[in-house]
Amino acid sequence: MCGIFGVINDQTNEAAQTILTGLKKLEYRGYDSWGIAIKPGSSDSLLVEKHVGKIGLAQTSLPQGTIAIGHTRWATHGGVTDANAHPHLDCTKKIAVLHNGIVENYQELKVKLLEQGHTFISETDTEIIAHLIEEKLKNQSLKKAVFGTFKELVGSNAIAVLHGKSETIIACRNGSPLVVGMGVADAYVASDVPAFLKFTNNVHFLIDGESVILTKKSILLYNTDSGSEKKFSWSVLDWKVEDAEKGGYPHFLLKEIMEQKKTIPKTAQINLVEIEKTAALIRAGKKIVLAACGTASYCALAAKYFFAQGGIHAESYGAYEFLPFAQFCNSDTVFIAISQSGETADTLIAAKAAKKNGATLVALVNARGSTLERLADITIPVGAGPEIAVVSTKAFTSQLATLYLLSHAVDGTIAKAQQNLTDLGNALEKWLDVKLQKQVVELAKTLMDHEDMYLVGKHLNYPATMEFALKIKEASYIHAEPFAAGELKHGVITLIQKGTPCFVLSSNDRVKHEVLSSAAELKARGGHIVGIAPYESLEFDSLIKTPDAGDLTIFPNVIVGQLLGYYLGVGRGADPDKPRNLAKSVTVK
Ligand code: G6P
Repeated sequence: MCGIFGVINDQTNEAAQTILTGLKKLEYRGYDSWGIAIKPGSSDSLLVEKHVGKIGLAQTSLPQGTIAIGHTRWATHGGVTDANAHPHLDCTKKIAVLHNGIVENYQELKVKLLEQGHTFISETDTEIIAHLIEEKLKNQSLKKAVFGTFKELVGSNAIAVLHGKSETIIACRNGSPLVVGMGVADAYVASDVPAFLKFTNNVHFLIDGESVILTKKSILLYNTDSGSEKKFSWSVLDWKVEDAEKGGYPHFLLKEIMEQKKTIPKTAQINLVEIEKTAALIRAGKKIVLAACGTASYCALAAKYFFAQGGIHAESYGAYEFLPFAQFCNSDTVFIAISQSGETADTLIAAKAAKKNGATLVALVNARGSTLERLADITIPVGAGPEIAVVSTKAFTSQLATLYLLSHAVDGTIAKAQQNLTDLGNALEKWLDVKLQKQVVELAKTLMDHEDMYLVGKHLNYPATMEFALKIKEASYIHAEPFAAGELKHGVITLIQKGTPCFVLSSNDRVKHEVLSSAAELKARGGHIVGIAPYESLEFDSLIKTPDAGDLTIFPNVIVGQLLGYYLGVGRGADPDKPRNLAKSVTVK
């Protein structure tokens, strides 16, 4: 949570504008307030502008300059106020600090700083960092003062510090992501690549314990602990600027939903070596454990059904509930951690615990250069491209498609699975279009004023209902509760009244009739039944017909939920790209 961005040697001499534009690309990381600090050309002192609210339409009145840093905030300590927005300054106003993470020991550090006479303006944990650096600068170099301060912070953190006098930006990483971008003379440091993708795709992802010092003359990498210099490992990303733009769509969420006709079939062509490597471990008898959070956890659950269909036993966990079971992981375990960002704290904790017990760690990620990727024995990057909307869509389907391939790789039928995904891509190409969008808009209009919805599905369509419901909750703030169709009679049915919207997700599979019986039971209690299925049925009061893609029908079934969540959100005045209270990557426990 929170987005950090800094630039040095800005080529336009409009560093504040550069930062503002970049922060808009990082807004998914936090969007309750934003701020920028610039070192104006002629003066040593820093100028700061910060505001509560989303950055989308913001403008800055800061003057010209070539060095600036900025931040978009997801509040942890201290309410959403201008004073609590970053950057935070020291007492001398010579140092500006941005922070992503939580300083767990900030209270004890603050007590000491208060005793030393420092004055605090905000209620944040971050502000202590500026004052600690100020204190150390009294008798230490800037590098030592910043590194020394960073080492005193307990917790998962990343910081960026702007020192006006020396025209230096220092950024340090321990647990929260940071990436450096090198332009021609210009250089950048950010929480994520889209902030500076417009200027360079030549990047170094910092690992924990690394710091970078950007000055007008050099970019240097250091080991924060020892202070010794390190070599960068630059890589050129194949991301295009358009990947981080809306491309004519009103929101990233809609763009990313529509992109799935390309991203899903793409999975059939990539990662074949890594998939085979993982399949070989499973064939050799290793037990599969899947763990993830949020959307990715529903992917884990759906994958468990794919594996079961291939006769392979897999366990799946919400990573936040994994630790009591970590003891059952050992060198005979393949632990598959699924994460769009690769930075989710609970997923990392689970992965570390499994690895400590000897498991082989497979990271199924979308973003590159993450902590999870670095921990992993095998990395499978699902290649959905940058996912900017907070609500995850294309990363989910690419992850699930990849695990579908893996489940088939184990029994040697991957070629067939690749073909099925290619066929699904062709079906989506025809189905996922404006006509479908209009149909979903009409459905959304009928549901807009409801505050409770229920969903049922069975087997593969059970995790699909969970993901469908999550999209509605996240994007439109409507209570949507998913159930296994079989659970209906065990209490759930008491919730159904006349007119209650009930979604029935189904495929043309052998449990279809059981699901239709559930639909009939819901209908008998007055439920308004919306079928999401590749077939018509008298039980459905209305139907969004999905392509019949066998086991893969759950992909279009979930896509309907993504679109419905989007249109309900727009209709109810929510911001579908940045729903209230959510962050794209939850880097705290
Ligand atoms: C947050 C996001 C969700 C996401 C989950 C896991 O809760 O709001 O959209 O599914 O984190 O994120 P990950 O990056 O690990 O997939």
